[in-house]
Amino acid sequence: MRIDIMQGDITTRGTDAIVNAANSSLLGGGGVDGAIHRAAGPELLEACRTLRRTELPGGLPVGAAVATPGFRLPARWVIHTVGPNRRAGQRDPALLASCFRESLLVAAGLGARSVSFPAISAGVYGWDARQVAEVAFDAVRSLTSSSSGGGDSGGALEVVEFVLFSDETTAVFRAVFDA
Ligand code: APR
Repeated sequence: MRIDIMQGDITTRGTDAIVNAANSSLLGGGGVDGAIHRAAGPELLEACRTLRRTELPGGLPVGAAVATPGFRLPARWVIHTVGPNRRAGQRDPALLASCFRESLLVAAGLGARSVSFPAISAGVYGWDARQVAEVAFDAVRSLTSSSSGGGDSGGALEVVEFVLFSDETTAVFRAVFDA
C-alpha cells in the first residue's frame, strides 16, 4: 500500500473516496467541509440530512466515520469524519487517530482502492499540522501493516494520499513522513 503526499484541492481528486473533515451535525461548514459540499452539489447535503434522520439522529461522534456518495465530485464516495476540536478542549490524539483508522475501515468496507485525506483538525479545529501528520501516518501504517499480515482491515486499499491545501502544511507532512 502506497502513501502519497501532495498539495492541492481535495475536491479535484479522482480517488475512489475522499475524506471530509466534517462536524458532528454533518450539515456542512467552512474549510474543506464547505469546499466538498460546494463541489458535490446539494445532493450531498440531502444525503447527510437523511443520515441524521435515520442512522445518526444524534449526529456523527468525534472519531467516527460514515460514507455517502460523492455525487458531482470526481470521487465516488465521501467519507465524513469528525476530528477533535482543540479549541473545545478535545486534545486526545486517540480521537484523531480514530478519524484516520475509522475512515480507512469504511473505505475498505466499500472496496475502495484509493483514499484521499485532508489534514483533519489542522484548520478550524486548531491542531498543529505536525501532530496531525504524526498521528495520521501512525494510524495508516498500523492499520495497513496489520492488513498485510493477512488481516482484512486494509481491504483492497492500494493508495492513501494526503492532499494538503497550503505550502506550509504540505512541507510539514513531507518532513514528518520522511523523518
Ligand atoms: N482541499 C484540501 N484541504 C483543504 C481544503 C481543500 N479544498 N480546504 C481546506 N483545507 C485544509 C485546511 O487548510 C486545513 O489544513 O483542510 C485542513 C482542515 O481544516 P478545516 O477544513 O478547517 O477542518 P477542521 O480543522 O477539521 O475543522 C472542522 O471546520 O469547516 C468546518 O464544518 C467543519 O466544523 C467543522 C470544522
